[in-house]
Amino acid sequence: NPRVRIAPSILAADFARLGEQVREAEAGGADWIHVDVMDGRFVPNISMGLVVVEALRRVATVPLDVHLMIVEPERYLEDFAKAGADHLTVHAEATPHAHRAIQRIRELGLKPGLAVNPGTPLGFFKPLLADLEIALLMTVNPGFGGQSFIPASLPRLRLLRQMVEEMNPHCLIEVDGGINPETARLCVDAGAQVLVAGSSVFNGRASVAENLQALRGRP
Ligand code: DX5
Ligand code: ZN
Repeated sequence: NPRVRIAPSILAADFARLGEQVREAEAGGADWIHVDVMDGRFVPNISMGLVVVEALRRVATVPLDVHLMIVEPERYLEDFAKAGADHLTVHAEATPHAHRAIQRIRELGLKPGLAVNPGTPLGFFKPLLADLEIALLMTVNPGFGGQSFIPASLPRLRLLRQMVEEMNPHCLIEVDGGINPETARLCVDAGAQVLVAGSSVFNGRASVAENLQALRGRP
């Protein structure tokens, strides 16, 4: 399906040859590169930060889709903008000032996204949807790659699709966690337009390009 955008998560890449992995993903048709920033507080794990975004900026030609799994993300928005992020997504649960953070991301000239965890009511999107470019529905609990897709995400996705149609059809719905060719198809059918995938792209059964092709499925 050529209309589906795929954002490989470099969390699952081989960090000893990160540049090469980005080039492989782009050659295979990756639309964005997804960068998972974890602070060991909002989520239990620590992953990567500004210096990795800077390094990716030097090799990537597609947009860097930066997913901030950090508390008080507003403290770092400018730094990630300077480091070369194109999209900045903050978590609804990570700040009492999601609205302000989204305005700030736009002022910095980037595309703002809001993410919600599997246990967070979709109502969090409502007051913010008009200002968003990306609505990120987590399909696992954030913190680690390689987890299983949570099936209860599908009815939530259908509901979010309705909300987006009503309030801001221009906003893209992105799903993240446990996306493989099978769950990708279910998510696209339920209204997702952007698929984040780590393990199934970089640790999948075939080459990065073939794994990406499998995720895209048929039109
Ligand atoms: C989870 C991250 C995801 C993760 C996806 O906290 O936000 O982006 O890298 O990895 P897979 O595709 O392996 O579930
Ligand atoms: Zn992510």
